[in-house]
Amino acid sequence: MDDAVDDYLTELAAAGHHDPVLAAMETRAVEHGFPIVGRSAGRYLELAARAIGARRVMELGSGYGYSAYWFSRAVGPDGEVVCTDADPDNAALAETYLREAGLWDRVRYRVGDALEGFAAEQGEFDIVYCDVNKGAYPDCWRAARERIRVGGMWLCDNVIWGGHAATGTERGGHTGWTAAIREHNRLVAEDGRYVSSIVPIRDGVMTALRVR
Ligand SMILES: C[S@@+](CC[C@H](N)C(=O)[O-])C[C@H]1O[C@@H](n2cnc3c(N)ncnc32)[C@H](O)[C@@H]1O
Repeated sequence: MDDAVDDYLTELAAAGHHDPVLAAMETRAVEHGFPIVGRSAGRYLELAARAIGARRVMELGSGYGYSAYWFSRAVGPDGEVVCTDADPDNAALAETYLREAGLWDRVRYRVGDALEGFAAEQGEFDIVYCDVNKGAYPDCWRAARERIRVGGMWLCDNVIWGGHAATGTERGGHTGWTAAIREHNRLVAEDGRYVSSIVPIRDGVMTALRVR
């Protein structure tokens, strides 16, 4: 998305939502160059989750809990957000931030490979959200598509990939990721059980509703 448009959406998403914990998480992202989903897409994740009455969310690639912050708000006090990340330091930071935000009681954080953590979970989810290394996107979709309830959603970040998904060109330093994102996007679009569209907020959020 054009930077000025993204800034505008970010400003709107921030209006009326002033949480110092969220601000601290955003500051950390800037200071450490960590790729959080950001305010405009975060707000959209909450909206999508609330729209389908989500109570159980599986996150593949949680970092230090920024996207989980938005899902945790949506699922409510009786809901559950299962986080995964390979880096234990991210899990510790997520606990600190989300505890301070009063949301940690809705979160379970699994340290390790995201797909292994997902496989170890039982049952269906209202939402599976994907934000791991992009080369894994096709496998994440294959693992998730049967485990999202009818009426539930697959949400996947960075599917426009700075425009490279459309042109098919490599993005510097990420060999193979463009092809994997394109494969993922095609697989989702062709799955007749899902109605999907890429919502072009920030770097594009694949939004696929399971209808059968
Ligand atoms: C883009 S960041 C996630 C940001 C997070 N969704 C947010 O918006 O706050 C990707 C994270 O996924 C983790 N990761 C990448 N591939 C993974 C994998 N295969 N299994 C577990 N974690 C993975 C990385 O350690 C990193 O913290």
